[in-house]
Amino acid sequence: MKNYKTIILSNQEISPGYFRMRLLAPGFGAKARSGQFLMFRVQRSLPPLLRRPFGIFRVGFMPSDCDGMPEKEYVEILYKVAGRGTTIMAELHEGDRVELLGPLGKGFEENPAKQEKILVGGGIGLVPLFMLASELVEKYDVRLLMGGRTREDILAVTEFERLGVETETYVSTDDGSLGEEGLVTQVLERKLQKYPDAEVFACGPMPMLKAVNEICSDHKVSLQVSLEEFMACGVGACLGCVVKGAGHTEENPSYLCTCKVGPVFQSERLDWDALGEPNETCEGCAS
Ligand SMILES: Cc1cc2nc3c(=O)[nH]c(=O)nc-3n(C[C@H](O)[C@H](O)[C@H](O)COP(=O)(O)OP(=O)(O)OC[C@H]3O[C@@H](n4cnc5c(N)ncnc54)[C@H](O)[C@@H]3O)c2cc1C
Ligand code: FES
Repeated sequence: MKNYKTIILSNQEISPGYFRMRLLAPGFGAKARSGQFLMFRVQRSLPPLLRRPFGIFRVGFMPSDCDGMPEKEYVEILYKVAGRGTTIMAELHEGDRVELLGPLGKGFEENPAKQEKILVGGGIGLVPLFMLASELVEKYDVRLLMGGRTREDILAVTEFERLGVETETYVSTDDGSLGEEGLVTQVLERKLQKYPDAEVFACGPMPMLKAVNEICSDHKVSLQVSLEEFMACGVGACLGCVVKGAGHTEENPSYLCTCKVGPVFQSERLDWDALGEPNETCEGCAS
């Protein structure tokens, strides 16, 4: 993990309300693993005080501007404008100075014994799945199920397809403007009937993750989920991101720090009934 005082290489709106930001980050890619995240400092000045967490979409090198100059190593994030911090981010431009801390947390781990990999992404939850897909596609059969409320919520389909991933998109609105209509979880059910020995990786809104967990547990299929809990520090210091672990009771409490132990968890480590409850451990995370 390193704190980078760096610059923005580009920041473009790719769909209404969704942006792709590329940041100069020498040495970041060698350390980053799929499923990890970074903390982005919106501004050097206050407010907002806190850094904001974002999944790592991609790392890579940009060709040099002229002969003799080195390539530029970058990290890319995709973000949705949600509130104060991301509204400010959307107004930033190439050359603006920012800070990022990362890579952070624990990422995905593949089981080499499972040839079929099914990735399930809802909305912005597909971000950490891109780097995962690019690693898995070298060795396994990778299928991606992407869900969104509208066509605008389904991002980067072409980029996944370019990797060689079989993609299927599901828009849970009436328009059916892209892919099939219906919930992504209904399709997962069908896929698991066809590929009962698959391994599943998911990231997205909590209701989707809960449904995916139920389906995978019914089919006795291994599932890893990436949680997007509220985070204030991102490094295990504030306890603002804890979730209850499986078997948690008042007498024998089990708390898992999402930013350190996660954000990726094997599904059976989590107390699924408690997920989505407000976090009682941190009161000062709203700045
Ligand atoms: C590990 C991790 C990875 C993430 N990856 C991405 C990503 O790749 N792209 C992306 O767009 N977003 C991602 N998020 C969510 C992102 O951090 C929040 O959307 C962002 O912090 C909102 O900041 P804000 O100042 O704009 O919003 P605020 O003003 O702080 O809040 C505005 C709204 O956003 C909601 N919100 C705030 N923080 C979160 C959060 N952590 N999760 C869900 N909703 C939140 C609030 O409920 C509120 O409704 C990730 C979160 C985590 C923990
Ligand atoms: S965000 Fe502070 S401990 Fe996880």
